[in-house]
Amino acid sequence: MQSDVKKSGRLIKAPENFLVKDDAKSPELMRRKFLAASVSSAAASMAAMGLAGSARAAAPVSGDGDPNILNLPAHSTGLGQPVAANPYGIPSQYEKGLQRRESPGLTRVSAASVAFTPLQGTFGIITPSGLHFERHHQGWWDIDPSKHRLMVMGLVKNPKVYTMDDIMRLPSVSRIHFIECGANTAMEWGNVAVPTVQYSHGMVSCSEFTGVPLSVLLEDCGIDMKTAKYVLGEGADGSSMTRTIPLDRALDDAIVAYGMNGEMLRPENGYPLRLVIPGVQGVSWVKWLRRIEVGDQKWATKDEAVHYIDLMPDGLHRQYTGIQETKSVITTPSGGQTLLDKGFYNISGLAWSGRGKIKRVDVSVDGGRNWRTARLETPVLSKAFTRFNIDWVWNGGPAILQSRAQDDTGYVQPKINQLREVRGTRSIYHQNAIQSWRVAESGEVSNVQVY
Ligand code: MTE
Repeated sequence: MQSDVKKSGRLIKAPENFLVKDDAKSPELMRRKFLAASVSSAAASMAAMGLAGSARAAAPVSGDGDPNILNLPAHSTGLGQPVAANPYGIPSQYEKGLQRRESPGLTRVSAASVAFTPLQGTFGIITPSGLHFERHHQGWWDIDPSKHRLMVMGLVKNPKVYTMDDIMRLPSVSRIHFIECGANTAMEWGNVAVPTVQYSHGMVSCSEFTGVPLSVLLEDCGIDMKTAKYVLGEGADGSSMTRTIPLDRALDDAIVAYGMNGEMLRPENGYPLRLVIPGVQGVSWVKWLRRIEVGDQKWATKDEAVHYIDLMPDGLHRQYTGIQETKSVITTPSGGQTLLDKGFYNISGLAWSGRGKIKRVDVSVDGGRNWRTARLETPVLSKAFTRFNIDWVWNGGPAILQSRAQDDTGYVQPKINQLREVRGTRSIYHQNAIQSWRVAESGEVSNVQVY
């Protein structure tokens, strides 16, 4: 097929864009089915374009060219659809394959599971709201905002109960931040586990959040700065999600948010109110926020004493490890995609740091022997996605693509073996190692680990 397709720099999308749940159970079956389907669909579309046969494919003769440019289609001659045909806009029917997806069999019930963001199919740094990853411990709810209340209590002079209207009258800020579940890339601690970037890294998204700085609410209730040391956030769902937040972080850049990407939060992401704790793992971004308590010690709730702890090689647990360290991943070309021909490719990916801005991203195409510095696209914001791009001419031989990010504290993203030396292999959370994608001579891209 490759010699017939003279489209330098084109690639076949990752297979999960087109497959049903059952197929995803076996990556190998998935790959074979996908390749078979793509060979026949590529052949069919080439035939439809009059490109069957390598001579024509290489150089369409004028007068016998591509009907897609020679013939006027219906949309150029007829009347299109009226305004507001979709009162709330939806993506093109041709983009249906780009979806959040649940990894089959990951959890026993889908209400306590994850739907991963398709990082391989998004551009820039903002994750569309409908593709923002979801992680619920006990399902999501569409809560009536007129009945939702937020109680602020504990070490404050004036404990208060706020309605949504009360909160939305207060001074607001809008800031772009990534949110990453501490368990993102967890399945790769021991070895390669999943085929595509959606499943390996898709528990991270980046949005513009709007809301009231937590510091404003705490001040409004008269926080007792002499005794206060921690803040507890509690959600209104059945999971009893409660998390301790150190006071300096709560007063720094934390937001009690109601907006996401210019509109109200989506129900799956905490409508009508959630915590935004920039740089900190997603579990602390309590959704459906109903209570804030100010205290003088950590609460050691179930989601910080039993879960979200790191099992170290000596058998002890690390607790309260909130910050998401510098990480990056190449999103295209990435696992499950197939490069159609040698030639020019734009290697593109995302980098982020829970400690500040991304300073630099280096990219290797030979498994880490040589590195080149990628272009960082603007804006480069603190605790937000940074998009990087770098040119690459694929010579058709085997290659291993990697990205290595550095943030403005000087911290450099580690290799997987460096991380394992410190953390062992039995951890779940905070896996921020360099990701490797192997490009085979056939053009198929797969997930590998390079030490
Ligand atoms: N808040 C409540 N109330 N209930 C939850 O199950 N899940 C947490 C956090 N906040 C959760 C919650 C976890 S583990 C993560 S990673 C993030 O929400 C995910 O946020 P998202 O679903 O908006 O991506």
